[in-house]
Amino acid sequence: MSVSLADHLTAILRRVLALPNVSVTPAADTRFGDYQTNAAMALAKERKTNPRALAAEMVAQLSADAELATLSEPPTIAGPGFINFTLKPGHLADRVAALLADDRLGVPQVEKPQRIAVDFSSPNIAKPMHVGHLRSTLIGDCLVRVARFLGHTVITDNHLGDWGTQFGKVIHGWKAFLDRGQLEADAINELVRVYIAADAAAKADAAVADLCRQELTKLQAGDPENMGIWRECVRLSLEELNRTYARLGIQFDYVYGESHYNAALPGVVERLLAAGIARESDGAICVFFEDHPRLADAPAIVRKKDGGFNYTTSDIATAELRVQEWKCDQMWCVVGAPQSRHFEALNVILERMGLGAQITHIPFGSILGPDRKIMRTRSGDNVSLRELLDEAEERAAAPIAERNPELPLAERAEIARVIGLGAVKYAELSQHRLTDYIFDWDRMLAFQGNTAPYLQNAYVRIRSIFRKLDGAWSAPAALGLTEPAEKNLAKKLAQFAEAVPSVLDDFRPNLLANYLYELADAFHGFYESCPVLKAEGAARETRLALCEATARVLRGGLGLMGIGVPERM
Ligand code: ARG
Repeated sequence: MSVSLADHLTAILRRVLALPNVSVTPAADTRFGDYQTNAAMALAKERKTNPRALAAEMVAQLSADAELATLSEPPTIAGPGFINFTLKPGHLADRVAALLADDRLGVPQVEKPQRIAVDFSSPNIAKPMHVGHLRSTLIGDCLVRVARFLGHTVITDNHLGDWGTQFGKVIHGWKAFLDRGQLEADAINELVRVYIAADAAAKADAAVADLCRQELTKLQAGDPENMGIWRECVRLSLEELNRTYARLGIQFDYVYGESHYNAALPGVVERLLAAGIARESDGAICVFFEDHPRLADAPAIVRKKDGGFNYTTSDIATAELRVQEWKCDQMWCVVGAPQSRHFEALNVILERMGLGAQITHIPFGSILGPDRKIMRTRSGDNVSLRELLDEAEERAAAPIAERNPELPLAERAEIARVIGLGAVKYAELSQHRLTDYIFDWDRMLAFQGNTAPYLQNAYVRIRSIFRKLDGAWSAPAALGLTEPAEKNLAKKLAQFAEAVPSVLDDFRPNLLANYLYELADAFHGFYESCPVLKAEGAARETRLALCEATARVLRGGLGLMGIGVPERM
């Protein structure tokens, strides 16, 4: 039964009505049914006939179909011509039983698996990773988990900003201001300190600015001393970054920073010139976009007047590697909205080059502080991710100690870790990625509302039901759904098969979050109206099966967001 309810109904509709484009979606208003189609209205518009009359004809055809009759009660008509389907309890029961017997929890694999390079996180070196990087890191990780689960082959690449003009200042700062002791104690903060000091000195004194530029030129020319400093900066930054990734449970297949492409850049420019895609203008080599209204005002520079290359050039080389060596069909890049123009221009260039694949830019908005401005510390600095994650765990710990004073300390710390990190991740992933959101500790750690603790708590409740059972329990082969709350929960469970793929339609993890939230609500509704342990016989077995399926879907769904579940909290 590895097809979702919506897809199954859609297939039946297309076959019975011989209309290849109609589809069935979850009902907007479940008072009239569980699923609906606007097929009659769409077709009536085309044929300029009465939609309700057309709907009646369709319903007559559909009601005679034997396959539909196994899934749905006879369809009904509502409003201006919607056709509604009410699922049969027996079919929902079968789906829950199948879900319990399936490692994939009923979620089908995609028919056409793709090879996808996913470029995410990608912070800039010698700067601490800050809350802004949180969005790319967490959205990217969730999309990767979902894509892999659906059967795609995913190659992840952390495209570090490990090359570029900031290194002139970093190297000058290293030579002029470095404190070795501090570097050993806290490398990133020391690197940031020397960068900021050099930046300030360069602003105040043109001679220092010149020195910074000279350091950069020497680095670009491969000067051994400057290369050594650069390498050390990259190594130290990566160590710190890797601690954060390990903590977040995130891994990359590749960490090819921008510097990986340095050797390829002259060749890129030569080929662009030879193909007539780029031309010289004012000493620089540029690609012009006269035929693209949004890009026409400025060319993309692929080689600067001074011979240096830039972001566009290295992204062209990056795309070539991903398509030609990695053989990727798709390239996703999870980077903030301010880079939209860059990717739009890049895709035009890739198309002119005939690369055969383009970059899907997956943009996102900003994280705001309580003042609704980009989140900063009180002193106006970027908030470091490490400190933020520390605070998340600390804040989660206090209430756990209060609720479970009897638990051993180590277990409490582990629960705090799962809840604290989960809260931060979920606060991110439950937002539409394009909206700015306010980072609000109290909200994300609350046990009520669309939060990780709310979902984790639903899971914990179910686990505690099973702890009260004496002896092992195994799911019954068949379930019998009688109560509306049982049926409602079973339908939600079956819809996991629709929620997971929907994440990739427009790269929206929040659709999965919303689904899990609704599932937890359906579970609470069920739990309030249907006693589980006090029920008897088949009803008790069915209810336990619904509980177990809910726990598994909550755990699996949160797992796709990189969020764990505790056994108690
Ligand atoms: N390092 C860049 C930044 O922080 C993001 C890189 C994204 N990936 C890419 N291939 N352009 O802005």
